Amino acid sequence: MKFIKTKDYQDLSSAAGKVIADEIKLNPSSLICIATGSTPTGAYKELARIVTVDSVDCSKLRIIKLDEWGGLAMDDESTCEVYIQKYIINPLGISSDRYIRFVSSPDNLQKECARISRELAQHGPIDLCLLGLGANGHLGFNEPAEYLQGPPHVAKLSEKSLSHSMVKANQSPISYGLTLGMDAIMQAKKILFLVNGKHKAGVFKEFKQAQINQYFPASMLWSHLNAICIHDSDVEN
Ligand code: GLP
Repeated sequence: MKFIKTKDYQDLSSAAGKVIADEIKLNPSSLICIATGSTPTGAYKELARIVTVDSVDCSKLRIIKLDEWGGLAMDDESTCEVYIQKYIINPLGISSDRYIRFVSSPDNLQKECARISRELAQHGPIDLCLLGLGANGHLGFNEPAEYLQGPPHVAKLSEKSLSHSMVKANQSPISYGLTLGMDAIMQAKKILFLVNGKHKAGVFKEFKQAQINQYFPASMLWSHLNAICIHDSDVEN
């Protein structure tokens, strides 16, 4: 794994935004997997800025949603959907035929996961996969467990995940998550793993131990051949 340490969150966002923009410039029809949460927001803003300034062609770019909170309406402000629409789909002008996404409240959970599996089989693998580090070492909603799951699946969410800032204040009960599994992540041609902030120092330290195990899903990234971790200096303090 290649590590890039930046001075602060702003520098992390600039560096990460550039990696994503470079990927699109090099391969305009890339399939990019989008993580949500507080970590990548600055990178997505920077990406939108570069796309405008450099007139980057996004007309063939394809997007896939990493994960989603289950049980919320699609237009609920807490969803990954609203986040991705705001920071990626609208600014980059991605048409619906170039966007693979879990719906947030599917009638049939298994069928929804099977549908995303088929989409991945047809349109994958992912060219660039954005990832953040969960407070408990999760990736997407691949939670620490006795075993990790390869395909897209329904995830039982940990207390830590349920207290995430995206949903903490939400009144609707969230009992599950929908997520790409470890297969799609590990088969991605390139991974961009972002970690920032003092609040992640403990979990980042654990990650750096490089002990690959299912109780710390992000540890799997040590086995990926083309993973870049960009982190700020706060996570090491
Ligand atoms: C959330 C999401 C992940 C995200 C991670 C880190 O629960 N399921 O996709 O990458 O946790 O979130 P944050 O960047 O807000 O710390």
